[in-house]
Amino acid sequence: MAERIDGKAIAAAVRARAAEDAAAFEKEYGRRPKLTVILVGEDPASQVYVRNKRRACEEAGILSETVLLPADTDEKTLLAEVARLNAEESTDGILVQLPLPAGIDEKRVIAAIAPETDVDCFHPVNVGKLFHPREATFLPCTPAGVMEMLRFTGIDPRGKRAVIVGRSDIVGKPLALLLLAADATVTVCHSKTRDLAALTREAEILVAAVGRAGFITADMVREGAVVIDVGINRTPDGKLCGDVDFASVEKKASYITPVPGGVGPMTVAMLLCNTLAAARARVFSGKQ
Ligand code: GUN
Repeated sequence: MAERIDGKAIAAAVRARAAEDAAAFEKEYGRRPKLTVILVGEDPASQVYVRNKRRACEEAGILSETVLLPADTDEKTLLAEVARLNAEESTDGILVQLPLPAGIDEKRVIAAIAPETDVDCFHPVNVGKLFHPREATFLPCTPAGVMEMLRFTGIDPRGKRAVIVGRSDIVGKPLALLLLAADATVTVCHSKTRDLAALTREAEILVAAVGRAGFITADMVREGAVVIDVGINRTPDGKLCGDVDFASVEKKASYITPVPGGVGPMTVAMLLCNTLAAARARVFSGKQ
């Protein structure tokens, strides 16, 4: 029976550390780090995410401002808002909550965020820096959260076969780079992969990031594997569930992350770390 990796507890430890760092920053520089979040429209899931980010900042002693824009905001107005925040001295981190309403080009908006404030690590400059993660200012929150969970649990990816199912820009691709930098042998699988189960069965670390409930079944998992479930789905009766068929896979894995209470809480915790990194980088660059 697998040991559960408690994302809530690990996230709490990361958030406590962020709070200490924020207090030290304030003592040294006489101001608090600040995150500004732009939310366009009223998507209920996005509203929940943004509220969680704001709460986490407040608890850690990081200032947080939410800029609410109406759903019919056009791209030009949003770009002007981003430009205003780029130039705002008190803002260290800028995050534009995705998805954006139809008609707004997300890539163009992300590219307009000043790279040194891009706490999501979505800007092409910051994505490029992931070739050498140790030299990067920011790591993308969810992949960094996965790496932190492994570290916290004492699982060293070095030399291990890591298989990621899902090649999204936000999770699969950047996580592949982080695991590679940690000396894992990395395979990224996707919807066109032939004989997926043969590959997943080789995984000593198996990461599911597909967005399909119960996609990873026990027959796809190697005995003793570490199984990390990045999925956030709803069952037909409305319950939160991951990409992994937890009940059966739990019996085969050595470690497993639950949903909820696994990777999810880590994402916000890592966002606090990035906001602190942005604030420190700003001070070191002399812009205060
Ligand atoms: N929407 C869902 N996840 C995310 C995220 O990590 N960052 C942003 N900006 N929007 C999201």
